[in-house]
Amino acid sequence: MSTVLITGGAGYIGSHTAVCLLRAGYSVVLLDNLSNAERQTVSHIEALSGQAVPFHEADLLDKEAVRAVFRAHKIDAVIHFAGLKAVGESVAQPLRYYHVNLLATLHLCEVMDEFDCRTLVFSSSAAVYGLNNRVPFTEEMPTGATNPYGRTKIMQEQMLRDLHTADSRWRVLLLRYFNPIGAHESGLLGENPRGVPNNLLPYVIRVAAGQLDRVHVFGGDYDTPDGTGVRDYIHVMDLAEGHVAAVSWLETHAGVEAVNLGTGHGSSVLEIIHAVEAACGHEIPYVIDPRRPGDIAACWADTEKARRLLGWQAARSLEQMCRDSWNSLQK
Ligand SMILES: NC(=O)c1ccc[n+]([C@@H]2O[C@H](COP(=O)([O-])OP(=O)(O)OC[C@H]3O[C@@H](n4cnc5c(N)ncnc54)[C@H](O)[C@@H]3O)[C@@H](O)[C@H]2O)c1
Repeated sequence: MSTVLITGGAGYIGSHTAVCLLRAGYSVVLLDNLSNAERQTVSHIEALSGQAVPFHEADLLDKEAVRAVFRAHKIDAVIHFAGLKAVGESVAQPLRYYHVNLLATLHLCEVMDEFDCRTLVFSSSAAVYGLNNRVPFTEEMPTGATNPYGRTKIMQEQMLRDLHTADSRWRVLLLRYFNPIGAHESGLLGENPRGVPNNLLPYVIRVAAGQLDRVHVFGGDYDTPDGTGVRDYIHVMDLAEGHVAAVSWLETHAGVEAVNLGTGHGSSVLEIIHAVEAACGHEIPYVIDPRRPGDIAACWADTEKARRLLGWQAARSLEQMCRDSWNSLQK
């Protein structure tokens, strides 16, 4: 079975993916600069998988450090999670986002090429679908982001498509995630952002735990069943299993493909709040604020391509996602 390098391997989605890959029999090497993760996560991955996992504290902006990882291990495939991901921050600091996200992917691909490793799973995002498409989003729809973060994803996708055009030995999957939430059922891994969370679920969980006052719901007058925004929330373990299916598919298929990873079902902000209330057993205070510029009313995935190509589909319920997130915060 092959060896997979996971960049951003100590992060939220990377750590869950590491556990799933190890369980499926792959060898795993982790790379992370720990800018948004804790070293302890590596011990938790080892505890959950019952094996030692090589970890390199390295920055993808330091190309020599990336080469050192490839010299130390024979890498067969890479899953590339590492990067900056906060939409609001990307609006305030566009140059930092373009610098880190684009340069990290450039360095990684250059080093992969040097070491004859040309199999790559890339973390893209539903943010590439922009404002003008109708739900459900299919992979053929035109891309167009509303913020620098989303634009870095579109540019990286384009970079990888160009790479494949120039050299057909590259095998690339561009996985477009919808809204990952939830945590490993042990509670040992999870999403624990530093400072005030940017994403809805970690924010709701902090309010539920009494660490923040109330949830700010941005927009109560959208054209959706209860007026609040609708998103496609997917359990992070389902998402992680999607990556195992992706690596396995790339073992026998060349080319470059974009694939949505979502559930194909949308939930509103109020449904999320109520699901967390059920998990924690008490009411969660919230207030309806004005809409945020750039937010769309509803977003969910067409999941047919993932099912057809990868033989994968999400299985876990919204209740389980909220329960696992709540448990992980309790731990
Ligand atoms: N979480 C989401 O809602 C979501 C949605 C769609 C797409 N994505 C994408 O999925 C990927 C993973 O997201 P996540 O939620 O696990 O984020 P995360 O911040 O938890 O994980 C990213 C990891 O990369 C590391 N990192 C950042 N810059 C680095 C660098 N230059 N060199 C080495 N390591 C670096 C961070 O320390 C972190 O551990 C990101 O590319 C993100 O854009 C996430």
